[in-house]
Amino acid sequence: MKSPRRFYQPLALGAPAPFREPPVRLERMIHFVPPHIEKVRAKVPDLVTKVDVVLGNLEDAIPADAKEAARAGFIEMAKATDFGETGLWTRVNALNSPWFLDDLMEIVAAVGDKLDVIMVPKVEGPWDIFYVDQLLAQLEARHGVRKPILVHAILETAEGVKNVDDIAAASPRMHGMSLGPADLAASRGMKTTRVGGGHPDYRVLSDPDGDAPRASAQQDLWHYTIARMVDACVASGIKAFYGPFGDFSDPAACEAQFRNAYLLGCAGAWSLHPSQIDIAKRVFAPEVDEVLFAKKILDAMPDGTGAVMIDGKMQDDATWKQAKVIVDLATIVAR
Ligand code: GLV
Ligand code: MG
Repeated sequence: MKSPRRFYQPLALGAPAPFREPPVRLERMIHFVPPHIEKVRAKVPDLVTKVDVVLGNLEDAIPADAKEAARAGFIEMAKATDFGETGLWTRVNALNSPWFLDDLMEIVAAVGDKLDVIMVPKVEGPWDIFYVDQLLAQLEARHGVRKPILVHAILETAEGVKNVDDIAAASPRMHGMSLGPADLAASRGMKTTRVGGGHPDYRVLSDPDGDAPRASAQQDLWHYTIARMVDACVASGIKAFYGPFGDFSDPAACEAQFRNAYLLGCAGAWSLHPSQIDIAKRVFAPEVDEVLFAKKILDAMPDGTGAVMIDGKMQDDATWKQAKVIVDLATIVAR
């Protein structure tokens, strides 16, 4: 299905809000906080100085009897904090839950002018985005919100993966998409209870070599979906993100999973624990050596065409573009 790429119109009040391009800002980590917990809210002003995005989570991991408190806590922390350049996001409850409508209505009414992005879980097709898009347009018009609120979808059902291209293209409000490996594993019937990362039994064996024990290596369970998601997002000019990594006791595995996503084109990942903030900072930025080499390529081919040899490696128009990706990212990180 080809997306209509509709531009939403605010309904009535005031002048139409201008369409905003997805921000070219650093979003190496989307840091999740449970806003119903007072001592967590108290730490938000300090957190703002350490992360690229603060996200108030209202969905999974918030108990059903704390949903209203989480929503109220999010509004309180959004009002009380100066977020400066740090992004302010919320993850609302699923569209078919009893809480979604109140999440959206109360949050846009109270802090719509401070909110950058709404993360929508369990998106199954473009119709989910059309619905949120129209509701946001109505609420922005009603409450005089001048800056359009963007939408970020979580890719976490088999149906969503099937429709990933149409979801990415569903609205100019689309900011990006994150992989939700826990829900997606359940939706697909994958046999794992892990939140992201590999599995000890998902391996390839080397060929037999006489009596020598056969080597085996673990593979990335998420390779296909991340690559699929990156292509869908980039084709629609939006950003792809790896989602959560649930084993806080295994920072090496978290870093390896984040790095695979980074190398495949993701812009960032979720941090669910403070220790994952630094992992994301380290991973979602190019290494110094890599930047220096990429700069050599740009310098050697000022107009981006031709072919040159650098350190024994062939460079041409395509590697110039690869180098530019790295240098552009390094420039944003350095700002
Ligand atoms: C995230 O929401 C996940 O399901 O992994
Ligand atoms: Mg989920």
